[in-house]
Formats: sequence, structure tokens, C-alpha cells
Amino acid sequence: MVAGAPILDISDLWVSFPAYRADPVRALKGIDLAIAPGEFIGLVGESGSGKTTLARAAMGLVPPPGVVERGEVLFDGRNLARLDEEAHRAVLGRELAMVIANPRAELNPVLTVGRQISNIVFYHMGVGRAEADRRALEMLRAVRIPDAERRFAAYPHELSGGMAQRVVIAIALACAPKLVISDDATSGLDVTVQTQVLDLLKSMVTEKGASALFITRDIAVTAHYCSRIAVIYAGEIVELAPVATFFERPTHPYSITLLAAFSHSPELRQRWTRSADIDAAPIPAGGCSFASRCVRRRERCLAEAPQARPLAGGRSVRCHFPVDESVT
Ligand SMILES: Nc1ncnc2c1ncn2[C@@H]1O[C@H](COP(=O)(O)OP(=O)(O)O)[C@@H](O)[C@H]1O
Ligand code: SF4
Ligand SMILES: [Mg+2]
Repeated sequence: MVAGAPILDISDLWVSFPAYRADPVRALKGIDLAIAPGEFIGLVGESGSGKTTLARAAMGLVPPPGVVERGEVLFDGRNLARLDEEAHRAVLGRELAMVIANPRAELNPVLTVGRQISNIVFYHMGVGRAEADRRALEMLRAVRIPDAERRFAAYPHELSGGMAQRVVIAIALACAPKLVISDDATSGLDVTVQTQVLDLLKSMVTEKGASALFITRDIAVTAHYCSRIAVIYAGEIVELAPVATFFERPTHPYSITLLAAFSHSPELRQRWTRSADIDAAPIPAGGCSFASRCVRRRERCLAEAPQARPLAGGRSVRCHFPVDESVT
């Protein structure tokens, strides 16, 4: 891990969404996560596990009607949710930028792509229009858009999905932010384009000395791009580990289930999948969130929710009976 005060420091963060005639949905339940300057950290988990809520909370933008019930998020030492609107807006896009999937929805359909990049530089960097345009063109070249001068004057609908995603990356990185959050940014692109866009994002973030929170449903992708991996399940980080350790010796049963899903071995997948008939019994509240799907579950898992605890080698796991604990 890279030394230095964390650029993003999330401690004991609880976020919930009120529900009509039902208990609130607890989207995040006690998240602890610190990202060091220069670090590229992967956040992996299935749909609905809380990834986007975490990304939004990191920006100080929990979507209404969501509420932060407990905990704190500090970006570069500041709680963004407490800034006034103008100060908040000055940080977003300048120091902290987000890239999401569906670039066309991100881009303004009636402005040329060059002008959209130029606008963000003009707004945040205190430079004149000619200089902002010059930097926008430079960014189009940096994200390897062919024939950048001509594309500067193109409208979003004139670009392919991959090109549009590059423009979104150019906008995100135009002001050299300290942290880039990528929320499933390449889902929907075909695999070759996805690899190109991710390589580009990685090299540009690294070049600018920024950090990244890289959110994906695809655990295989993180192996290539991240230094550490956080696995999130039902609003809890269940495992956090350096990438090499994680792929060599995953310890949380859910991490192994995720990895098994990508393996070519049906036996491995079967070994880590709980058969439906065992699941018939309801799981009492107050136990482990993963108990209904866990092949290793024992009595204690139903009675007591596991807390995150540190293991050797800079990793932590939230499980009473992690796999192969003895080797750590
Ligand atoms: N605006 C919202 N209103 C109500 N519930 C929400 C809202 N946004 C997210 N949730 C709930 O919070 C949980 C986490 O969602 P989300 O953060 O979008 O997960 P992910 O990005 O991992 O798919 C889900 O149960 C989802 O239904
Ligand atoms: S605490 Fe028990 S149920 Fe939960 S993941 Fe660990 S072994 Fe499985
Ligand atoms: Mg999401």
C-alpha cells in the first residue's frame, strides 16, 4: 500500500433508504475503507450490494431519500456532505471525478464534445476560453481519440459507445482530480473496447498520480487493474486484501463463490454453492448476512453477526470461519 494520509477515508458508514410500510433498506452497514494517494482499489460485489451508494456517499451525494445514519466520509480531510453547495460543486469535477456506465446519458447531446471538456476546464481551472479549448484538445488526444481536431467539433451521437466513454474519461480527468471513481464504467461495451478503455483509465490515473476507486461486478477485471480488492456483500465489506494475496488465498466464503463463478471447474462451483433444499429454513435476523448462501455456515453464524477483523498481510475478513485461516 502507498504511504500517506488517505485521500478517501470512510469510517463506520451506515446508509439507509426508507421504505413504504416496511423496514428501511440498509444499503451500507458499517463500511470502513481508506484509499491512499496513488492507490487503485477495486470494489467488487453483485448487483444491489451497495456499490453505487458507496460511490455516491464518497462524493457527499447520497441520493434522496437515502440518509447517512452513522459514520463519516472524509475526502482529503474534508466531509463533503457538510460543505455548502458552491464549495461542494467546486470539489466535484475538480478534485474528485466520477465515470459511470452509459456515457451517452452523461454527455450533453446539444454541445460538441470539445466544448464539454473545455467547459469543465474553464469552470474549474480559472483559465481563458482559448486555453481551455487547447487543454480540451490535448485531453482528446490523451484519450487517444483519432483525428482529435475533427472530433472536437463532433456531437455525442456521432461517436461510437467506446469513443463516447473515452470522452467521459477525458472530462473526468481534465482537471487532474485527486480521486477518480469509476462505477461499472465499462459495462455495456464489448470486451475488446472495454479492455482498451480500462487500460486507458488506468494509465491516465497513474500518470496523473491520482487514486481510483474502481467499482465492478467483474472480479476478474480487478486482478489486472487494482492493488487491493474490497469485496462487498449486502452493504458490508466482507474481505479486503492486496490483490495478489486475494487471488492466491481468498478467505471469505463469498469471495471464493465469486471466484468459483469464473472458474472452468463445475466441481469447484458446485462445492461453493449451497443447494436450495438446505436453504429452506429461514435465517434469523442478527446473524451473518451471507448465512443463507454459505456452505460453511455453522450454529454460531446464525446467532452472531461477524465483525471485520484483521488477518496477517494487511487484509481483513468479516467471517467467523474464514477459509484457511491457519496459513495467514
Ligand atoms: N434511491 C433509492 N431508493 C431506495 N432504495 C435504494 C436507492 N438506491 C439504492 N437503493 C437500495 O440500496 C441497495 C444498494 O443499492 P446500490 O448501491 O445501487 O447497489 P449496487 O450499485 O451494488 O448495485 C439496494 O438494495 C437498492 O435497492
Ligand atoms: S460467518 Fe459463517 S455464514 Fe458467514 S460467511 Fe463466515 S462461515 Fe459463512
Ligand atoms: Mg451500481
